[in-house]
Amino acid sequence: MPNPFPGLRPFLAEEDYLFFGREEQTAELLSLLRQHRFLAVVGTSGSGKSSLVRAGLLPALHGGTMALAGSDWEVVMLRKLVFWIQVPRRGCRL
Ligand SMILES: Nc1ncnc2c1ncn2[C@@H]1O[C@H](COP(=O)(O)OP(=O)(O)OP(=O)(O)O)[C@@H](O)[C@H]1O
Ligand SMILES: [Mg+2]
Repeated sequence: MPNPFPGLRPFLAEEDYLFFGREEQTAELLSLLRQHRFLAVVGTSGSGKSSLVRAGLLPALHGGTMALAGSDWEVVMLRKLVFWIQVPRRGCRL
């Protein structure tokens, strides 16, 4: 029998059939999204945030769970954004 766990990486959206144990949290995210247009998932490192969003929330959205919003969601993944801020030297005119 193949190992159902992906190892150290998060579950992918297409691995939703292997993802379990987070049904309540997925339902909670959907419920919050129905009320607000912005939703942040926060938690300690390695607690399963990425997996919950990818393999719990996204398949539910694409499956049409949010009837009013439909199932045609455009998903944009942003990872490790680095912002460079250049601070002018003291006395320098901007
Ligand atoms: N429901 C689950 N069942 C079993 N393993 C899980 C489950 N959810 C996540 N994992 C595993 O736990 C680990 C951490 O998951 P994940 O990367 O999703 O967490 P994270 O909170 O996004 O981590 P980070 O803070 O590093 O971004 C991964 O190895 C993932 O495969
Ligand atoms: Mg993560």
